Amino acid sequence: MTGIFDSGIGGLTVVKALLKLLPEESFIYLGDTARTPYGNKSADTIIEYAKKDAKFLLDAGCDSLIIACNSVSAVATDILRELYPDVKIFEVITPAVDAAIATGATRIGVIGTRATIASGIYQKKIQNGYAKVQVLSKPCPLFVSLVEEGWMNERETKQIARKYLTVFREKSYQTLILGCTHYPLLTSVIQRAVGKKIHLIDSAEEVIQKYKKEAATKKEAATKTYFLTDISPHSVAIAQKWLGKKVHFEKADI
Ligand code: DGL
Repeated sequence: MTGIFDSGIGGLTVVKALLKLLPEESFIYLGDTARTPYGNKSADTIIEYAKKDAKFLLDAGCDSLIIACNSVSAVATDILRELYPDVKIFEVITPAVDAAIATGATRIGVIGTRATIASGIYQKKIQNGYAKVQVLSKPCPLFVSLVEEGWMNERETKQIARKYLTVFREKSYQTLILGCTHYPLLTSVIQRAVGKKIHLIDSAEEVIQKYKKEAATKKEAATKTYFLTDISPHSVAIAQKWLGKKVHFEKADI
């Protein structure tokens, strides 16, 4: 069984992609709502939290992990792989980079949290094999709060999106990676801000495509368990809205 974890409820965009593509898959989801957000914190703190998240899921019986959080994927993947060499660990960055490269773009934009962008990981991975591809990375930290407030289509959200993203349109970027769990929920606002010609890459969908190819195990009696480290009425309400159905959340003490 696979364990999926995130800094909070944003990782449910990855769960949603999994439910769509592999509805029979068993999983345990862990959202660290007690410590969210991770994206404004230092790499050391994110690594410390990520170790606890992974341990919780492995102790609960998971034998593979999907790191749904871009910030954790950016700073903690190597450390988790060193700690657990026998566990198959999926992260969201490589599949999104591969999908962006596959579009044939010569100018690729990346947006994410401060921690993700500061890590420089997208730039490194893209330019590792494709040195001539131009990469422009930009932190868009306000998007997380706007999404959690449910402001997907407000005038202010559109203004903020234009303020963050006009540069990608002006400099003729062809592909933009949505490098944060929350950004797929703003797809239409982001697409409008960057223009119709820019191809958007959703890292949630890409990681699940990779998981399907490499690790999916269809079980007859699929179980889906959801844990949060802090259960507040607001988190539960937005989680259920994003998933489009009622799910039960259990409390995780980590
Ligand atoms: N899950 C985080 C990410 O994808 C966004 C929310 C946070 O900052 O914790 O980077």
